Amino acid sequence: MVDVCQILVRFGFLQLSTMVHGIGWQGKILKEKVWNFCRNWNLTIVNVTSCAGITLLMVDWQPSGKENRMQPDLRNAGTPVTPDDLLNQTIGALVACFPGATLVFRHHHIGFCCHAGQTLAELANKKDINAHLVAEELCKLPKGPINLPDLHDTDAFINFILDRYHQVHRDELPELIVLARKVEAVHGDHPEAPVGLADELCAIAENLDLHMKKEEAVLFPAMREMRKNGAISAALALPIHCMREEHDDHAEAVHRLHKLTNNCQLPQGVCGSWRALYSGTGKLIEDLVAHMYLENAILFPQFE
Ligand SMILES: [Fe+2]
Ligand SMILES: [Fe+2]
Repeated sequence: MVDVCQILVRFGFLQLSTMVHGIGWQGKILKEKVWNFCRNWNLTIVNVTSCAGITLLMVDWQPSGKENRMQPDLRNAGTPVTPDDLLNQTIGALVACFPGATLVFRHHHIGFCCHAGQTLAELANKKDINAHLVAEELCKLPKGPINLPDLHDTDAFINFILDRYHQVHRDELPELIVLARKVEAVHGDHPEAPVGLADELCAIAENLDLHMKKEEAVLFPAMREMRKNGAISAALALPIHCMREEHDDHAEAVHRLHKLTNNCQLPQGVCGSWRALYSGTGKLIEDLVAHMYLENAILFPQFE
């Protein structure tokens, strides 16, 4: 019987640890204690291991409530936003609300996949980037900010994720794979050809489809039910933890896409198919980052 849980908290390179005592990891009391502790301190569980009667949790610390990091004024279409409004928004929220934001972030060498949970101001400060200039460019994008549903309306929020991301991934990935095969077949001897991109896109389509099916068949219906009954509990914490781990795998795939396409930068004078392929891959990356952010940072924390 495991009776102690050690929580190792990562603050960047600094690590702190704390012990939580209870009646056994398998028993309800310790589990609830640990999850409540993590929720109260905005800790995200990134790994769980067990050794010699001690369960070790590796967690990441978010400096403020993740759920509150998207300001309401970004959620309403038609609301005028100023560059100042965007400085304290997270990178993930900006990607979700401003179609084309990843082009701006690429231009300023901002890693939007790894830093989705940090605000524009925090990241700019760390990397010596002019946050105001980035925010101005985001405000000039023609299609933002888009309308996100009420974050606490679980039905509407899940429906939005299903329509805007699950369906769109399924609609667009097959075409992108065909295009990648064509470009590889025709331009495979070009020194900058994205050799291996079609196979990577196939693997993403397969893994994503399995992942989305789990959310559609199990997790999302359970969340709808819990919200409907007003009985939110920690019962979904484990399946959510599994979904988060799969998101980490998708994030790795996004890194591979960046590598295979040289960050979606086209070589000089390439054909229309190659252009369409990189444009489509860029959109897939943006959609994946936004999709994972909305689940990881907005939807999941409400049920953990
Ligand atoms: Fe999803
Ligand atoms: Fe997901």
